[in-house]
Amino acid sequence: MTIAVTGATGQLGSLVIDSLLEKVPASDVVAVVRDAVKAQSLTDRGVDVRVAPYDDRAALDLALAGVDRVLLVSGNEMGQRVAQHRNVIDAAVAQGVQLLAYTSAPAAGVSTLPVAPEHLATEEYLATTDLDHVLLRNGWYHENYLPALEAARSTGSVLTSAGNGKVASAARADFAEGAAVVLTTDEPLKPVYELGGDVAWTQSELAATLSDLLDTPVTVAEVEPEQQSAILTEAGVPPMWVDFTVATDASIRNGELEVTGGDLSALIGRPTTPLAATLRSAL
Ligand SMILES: NC(=O)c1ccc[n+]([C@@H]2O[C@H](COP(=O)([O-])OP(=O)(O)OC[C@H]3O[C@@H](n4cnc5c(N)ncnc54)[C@H](OP(=O)(O)O)[C@@H]3O)[C@@H](O)[C@H]2O)c1
Repeated sequence: MTIAVTGATGQLGSLVIDSLLEKVPASDVVAVVRDAVKAQSLTDRGVDVRVAPYDDRAALDLALAGVDRVLLVSGNEMGQRVAQHRNVIDAAVAQGVQLLAYTSAPAAGVSTLPVAPEHLATEEYLATTDLDHVLLRNGWYHENYLPALEAARSTGSVLTSAGNGKVASAARADFAEGAAVVLTTDEPLKPVYELGGDVAWTQSELAATLSDLLDTPVTVAEVEPEQQSAILTEAGVPPMWVDFTVATDASIRNGELEVTGGDLSALIGRPTTPLAATLRSAL
């Protein structure tokens, strides 16, 4: 079986490749990338590297030729992603790919997360095709809280408007391992996986974790969304990230990142990696 991963030089995609190489021979793995130079280490490991930017439909056709299963890692160019993802999906259909897995967002159909609309549009497009597909609705990465660790180190606090909302984050490597299982298993697959870590934490619990890791007191600075926006703007954060952060905290406040159904630990066959372990290894 030939398995392709798009975005294979990205942070998630490269971890999926690592996980795949523990399960199948490198000769079965295709890395779809936009920069062959960046993919040199994959070539060195015997992976078949194919260059195909998401905007280049003809290149995507060539990249997915002979592929049985593909993981479409959602792109990171906000506003362009739906057209880009459609190109990959169309190429997969044209090349007779048997299964496409797509990295989406939790409960994309009802989510108010700022990233949700492009994921939902991609999911809806997939539903119009005859392509067998699996939605990997990844929750938040633990690694998203590395900036919070750095901020806590300098300010001694966690700035938030997320209230008592909980986040069931998980390590990127755990999401990657889950994707690799989906790509390689002979077992029946669910159409939708809502993926999150085993433990959902509050902002107070995040502050306690950061405090332990930094060995210094860290408190929660709970503010209204308008205040959060003003403080971040004053600190020089670009407007797009201010809006993204405030909107994401609103979604967290609504419980939208409390993804605790256990799909991820069931896929990987073990408990998910704790937040503290991921942040500690980054310290
Ligand atoms: N769940 C979460 O917490 C979370 C957080 C952030 C992002 N995400 C989503 O999950 C995806 C994977 O996460 P990540 O951490 O691996 O992000 P990442 O490191 O930014 O990886 C994105 C990948 O997409 C590739 N890509 C972007 N635009 C492309 C294009 N036009 N043509 C071909 N390839 C393109 C990038 O290629 P290059 O390697 O050449 O740059 C990269 O490999 C992100 O793209 C985003 O959609 C999820």
